[in-house]
Amino acid sequence: MSGKPIAIASDHAGYDLKATLAEELVAMGHEIVDLGTDGQDSVDYPDFAKDMTRAIIDGRAERGVLVCGTGVGISIAANRHPGIRAALCHNETTARLAREHNDANVLALGARIVGVEVAKDCLKAFLTTEFAGGRHAKRVAKLADGG
Ligand code: RB5
Repeated sequence: MSGKPIAIASDHAGYDLKATLAEELVAMGHEIVDLGTDGQDSVDYPDFAKDMTRAIIDGRAERGVLVCGTGVGISIAANRHPGIRAALCHNETTARLAREHNDANVLALGARIVGVEVAKDCLKAFLTTEFAGGRHAKRVAKLADGG
């Protein structure tokens, strides 16, 4: 980790969990860039995925966290942006392996799927696990050009 901020965003369904994870990030000593949404009013998750991925692509953030109801829509939206490897994770193991094997730069979570403590476990694993490189590096490189 470079010490650059962590960007975080959600839709309305992910708002409460985003707020909790933002507090957790600060408690862990990270600077955050909170790109919304800022309440329970209905919004469209692709807009928030786009703003969050832009922060990474522009270099304002090193990694990102996205939350929607299932994590599905917001991870699909994020992965449409070149340079983004968003992993939808459901437990500590998927978050750890998303870093070790896939060099994921975005953690996606479903607020209606995982509990708060599991989400925190995912966040910690995502931020503390290094990419293993080696045999995984050429596979991750192929993601950049569509395979
Ligand atoms: C919003 O109701 C919900 O569809 C959204 O948060 C997400 O789960 C979509 O994948």
